[in-house]
Amino acid sequence: MPLRRKKSVPAPPTGPQPKGTGTLATLPGNRHAAILGVGGYRPERVVDNNEICEVLDSSDQWIRERSGIVTRHIAAKDGESVIDMSEAAARGAIEMAGIDPEQIGCIIIATVSHPYQTPAAAPLLAVRIGADTAAAFDISAACAGYCHGITLASDMVRAGTVDYALVVGVERLSDFTDPTDRGTAFIFADGAGAAVVGKSDTEGIGPTIWGSDGKHWDVIAQRDSWIDVREQDLGWPTIVMQGQTVFRWAVWGMAPVAKRALDAAGVTVDDLDAFIPHQANMRIIDAMAKQLKLPDDVVIARDIATTGNTSAASVPLATERLLREGEAPRGGLALQLGFGAGLSYAAQVIRLP
Ligand SMILES: CC(C)(COP(=O)(O)OP(=O)(O)OC[C@H]1O[C@@H](n2cnc3c(N)ncnc32)[C@H](O)[C@@H]1OP(=O)(O)O)[C@@H](O)C(=O)NCCC(=O)NCCS
Repeated sequence: MPLRRKKSVPAPPTGPQPKGTGTLATLPGNRHAAILGVGGYRPERVVDNNEICEVLDSSDQWIRERSGIVTRHIAAKDGESVIDMSEAAARGAIEMAGIDPEQIGCIIIATVSHPYQTPAAAPLLAVRIGADTAAAFDISAACAGYCHGITLASDMVRAGTVDYALVVGVERLSDFTDPTDRGTAFIFADGAGAAVVGKSDTEGIGPTIWGSDGKHWDVIAQRDSWIDVREQDLGWPTIVMQGQTVFRWAVWGMAPVAKRALDAAGVTVDDLDAFIPHQANMRIIDAMAKQLKLPDDVVIARDIATTGNTSAASVPLATERLLREGEAPRGGLALQLGFGAGLSYAAQVIRLP
């Protein structure tokens, strides 16, 4: 980066003196960014509630009534890894965006179920899709991860850091779920969703409203740290959840976040074509829609019924489905909202690709 020496920036009066006190050349900034394509991958195996109840003390009726989930997709042992599913979803998004993989400057994978502490999943995905030299890293923001990724990608494109970024939300939660846990076994599922964010002539991604509440760090969490697992021989650390606390937080805390995202984008519910919240629980989705007073003609994503809760993958998977099935119009406005472990959340209004 060339450094223009100017005398205008004063050096600190004491301590070591910097070599240069000039300004740095910077990126162009202020470009528009939009989601140009989305893709999704659902594992082949469909598991219904009766199969879940072969080991879980529950019933099809209870699961349907309390969560709205009828079936979910569970990844196979071989061939449907976090990387495999990401690749399939990414290829769909790249195809819709109409770009070459080499044009992708950055790959962000949002996941909490990539089974390696390091390296991240994203560099391997980069090689798989032919974006070999793209910057590539993972982020951990659980069910809010995809919307966090869209924020980062949008800001990178707007700033001029990259022209195109790939954001993937992917989970193989079946690897981290106790099939006998009544609070999670029927909820969590597997899948991947992806989006290409790129430069655009018009604005396509509104300002993000996001945040966290670390006071409730433990309400959805890996049961034990890796260190405790090793030192106390605790067994596989699955993800556990305080369902009612999460439920209340989501219902009462997230609708105001969604409203702020609408305000920040300068639109109202009447301008929306679709509402795409994290697919956590059908009752949470219904309660949010009611609080937001969504008009009847706003399509509400209810992918959870046949996809389950796929954490970081749920918003892009639901988006991909609404477009593929023609339920939401291409070019329409959608309010998307991710929330989950951390606790963490992020919402933004986007123009559908
Ligand atoms: C998990 C969840 C569906 C449980 O529903 P709930 O209505 O809160 O269930 P409760 O824990 O209050 O239990 C209600 C009753 O159902 C029973 N129950 C709990 N889990 C059950 C299960 N899997 N099957 C059958 N019965 C169950 C309880 O024992 C209790 O029975 P009781 O009334 O006789 O004591 C709900 O809390 C939820 O959806 N939470 C948020 C989940 C979520 O969104 N997670 C992801 C966030 S990213």
